[in-house]
Amino acid sequence: MKTLIHLIYCSAAPRPLSSNELRDLLVGARRYNERHGITGMLLYADGSFFQVLEGAPEDVERLFKRISADPRHDRLTLIIREPVAVRAFGEWSMGHADIAQEDLDQIVGSNDFLAAGRSFLDIGEGRAKKLLAAFRDGRWRTALGRPATIPEDDPEPHPPPRYAFAFQPIIHAPTRSIYSYEALIRGPAGETAASVLQQVQPSGTHLFREQQRIAALEAAARLGLRTRININFQPSDIARSATAISSLLAAAERCGIPFDSIVLEVLESEIIRDSGDFSARMNPYRTSGLTFAIDDFGAGYAGLNLLADFQPNLIKIDMNLVRGIESNGPRQAILRGIVRTCLDLGIDIIAEGVETEDEYGWFRREGIELFQGFLLAKPEFDRLPTYFHLPG
Ligand SMILES: Cc1cc2nc3c(=O)[nH]c(=O)nc-3n(C[C@H](O)[C@H](O)[C@H](O)COP(=O)(O)O)c2cc1C
Repeated sequence: MKTLIHLIYCSAAPRPLSSNELRDLLVGARRYNERHGITGMLLYADGSFFQVLEGAPEDVERLFKRISADPRHDRLTLIIREPVAVRAFGEWSMGHADIAQEDLDQIVGSNDFLAAGRSFLDIGEGRAKKLLAAFRDGRWRTALGRPATIPEDDPEPHPPPRYAFAFQPIIHAPTRSIYSYEALIRGPAGETAASVLQQVQPSGTHLFREQQRIAALEAAARLGLRTRININFQPSDIARSATAISSLLAAAERCGIPFDSIVLEVLESEIIRDSGDFSARMNPYRTSGLTFAIDDFGAGYAGLNLLADFQPNLIKIDMNLVRGIESNGPRQAILRGIVRTCLDLGIDIIAEGVETEDEYGWFRREGIELFQGFLLAKPEFDRLPTYFHLPG
């Protein structure tokens, strides 16, 4: 069976498009899409575009590259790219949705092409339909609008804090190579993460974190990233911002960072707070190639239980379990349990916060391959350090 994907994105028009301009765009688009077996739909409302493209992966990717370079829109936000079993838009080379009679005038793209009476009901069930409904209800439009990042109820808006990043390598011991860099937020002159974060208004933290994740990717790309990059991620941001992950994927696309080089680190404690929903919310993004790591694993009480509900690609062992491991029997027993479970589940382990050769030696003898810590390399401000010390 031929592989199919659908790719859904939204974007903003820097200036409003006239009906004629839209019609021209659509006529050309329909011709191209028909020739290349791409089906889908394009909507335009309130200065925002929303488009679904379905077809063979290479055809959709090629077209999306062209579309991404089109100056008629910007702020492209990839919402989802995933394999699908069937086309939601059947034979539509570029359809329109009869969204709701009263909305028709605002949704310009819907009433000037394919005048035949297709209706929203004709669209196959599935994620594309749900996302179209989200667009109809204005959710993606709000996310795209050029928003004040400070909510209205903030009586005294503060300027957002300035920040930069330090990068700390994660080393793959058997090949003596850098596996990834963790991006750590710092003030513009290298001040601590805490001093930056305390300047953020509580009501704006999720937006700040979203911008900061994008900035981390951009900084790493500017510094010449050739490995993976670990970025901290709070799962609660997904509920608060529709673009929490898609904006990161769009930034990766812009910076030329492959999605499968991005490791999202989620704190164990945050997953526990949200454990039921967490894997259901995250798993769709795994099809895009993103990988997930549980940070500070073993710091709380959930530990191994957590792995029954969500199997990340990696776990980072909490540094309190690492500290003095070579002489602490109970910690060694706990860690052997973790190592065994992760081996059975195909989860890689990073020993984090390794400070001594004895700690390193113990983990290495247990078969651990990935290490992060001051013993090997310290974080460096606005640089991707290439030097590290590996014992033995
Ligand atoms: C929001 C938006 C959606 C578009 N969708 C398509 C499309 O589905 N198919 C297409 O061929 N062109 C589409 N285009 C136009 C392409 O960006 C591009 O102009 C066109 O493919 C011609 O490319 P070329 O100038 O490289 O030949 C779209 C443009 C915009 C702004």
